[in-house]
Amino acid sequence: MSARYPRRTAEDAAGRSDQCPATASSSRPNSDGESNRGTHHHSTEPSRSTSAAVAQSERKPRSPMSRETARSHGPTLNTAAGRGLSWPVRQDVAVDDSRSAGVAALFDRVAESYENVGVPWFDPIGAALVDAVAPAPGERAVDLGCGRGATLFPLAAAVGPPGRVTGIDLSAGMLEQAAAGVAARGLSTVDLHRMDASAPDLPPASYELAVSSLVIFFLPDPAAAALAWRELLVPGGRLGISTFGPRDAAWEHLDAVFRPYLPKHLLDARTSGVSGPFGSDRGVEELLLGAGFDRARTLGLDLPVTFADPEQWRTWSWSHGQRAMWESVPEAERDQVMAAATERLGAARDRDGRITLTQHVRFTLAEV
Ligand SMILES: C[S@@+](CC[C@H](N)C(=O)[O-])C[C@H]1O[C@@H](n2cnc3c(N)ncnc32)[C@H](O)[C@@H]1O
Repeated sequence: MSARYPRRTAEDAAGRSDQCPATASSSRPNSDGESNRGTHHHSTEPSRSTSAAVAQSERKPRSPMSRETARSHGPTLNTAAGRGLSWPVRQDVAVDDSRSAGVAALFDRVAESYENVGVPWFDPIGAALVDAVAPAPGERAVDLGCGRGATLFPLAAAVGPPGRVTGIDLSAGMLEQAAAGVAARGLSTVDLHRMDASAPDLPPASYELAVSSLVIFFLPDPAAAALAWRELLVPGGRLGISTFGPRDAAWEHLDAVFRPYLPKHLLDARTSGVSGPFGSDRGVEELLLGAGFDRARTLGLDLPVTFADPEQWRTWSWSHGQRAMWESVPEAERDQVMAAATERLGAARDRDGRITLTQHVRFTLAEV
């Protein structure tokens, strides 16, 4: 692996936190405040490993997001060649955390089915995040935890050439799918790296835009990751992240069928969103403010997801991160869990038998 780029130290971060009392782990009621921070960055070009014409595909229609109050506050796991991968993904992996390695392995298992079972889910969220950060043509953008490209591809279309998009992810399987998408679209402005989003080894102060859709709550230390992401941005650069807010009552009731089986880390507030930084708009904003970002604010989207029947829900729930919940249930008990889920899904059926559940998604935006 190449030498790591120099970045700001924890001491520098501590210096900034004097100016910004918000901490990454606190979750407080909303309040407005103001702080302005000056930052120094070195200008460096992001790495560029692939090239061809960016397909200027039509932008998806804007999603019906509600704008909430804008607030101003202020290792190494060396992979082999990644399962014989033949796409232009650079293997700059750096991860020393077993939890992250476990998450990456989970996403390797779902990579083929992810967003590929006829239930639009990550794509609309990714497109809405890209709309929220309003990329401008020519901007350099980085997608942290790009997966198969739900955000990467709308971003590449928006910045077009001469814009550039760097996508990083820890899952070789997800990157393989992303690379297939790059090839299918004939994109020359996208480069992909197998890399830990907790501490991306990318040049500091080199991107106008950083996005990360539904990733930060998987990271062992989200506050440290936010700090590292800030380092990637030029002065005035923007960050947009999406995280899950509350789901509707039917969905909460449905997911409760897994609860007796879930290990502690799957009950963690960061992913269940009950408390901690991911429990409220303000909590996520403070996470970013604590990392030295400015003008943290939240947009919200209530995203309905419709299943033809409980079987489609089952297929879908195995096709992404929720697979970890199924895998926590002993095989002999899975039919029983499915029966309970089917009963609960029944309550959400409409006259046509279709099942619609609603998830609130947060888009937290901030600037350097
Ligand atoms: C829910 S998926 C979101 C993927 C994509 N952003 C999207 O919206 O479809 C979470 C992604 O985060 C990636 N991920 C999890 N931990 C990571 C880490 N430490 N470094 C890089 N990627 C990570 C997973 O491999 C997976 O692709």
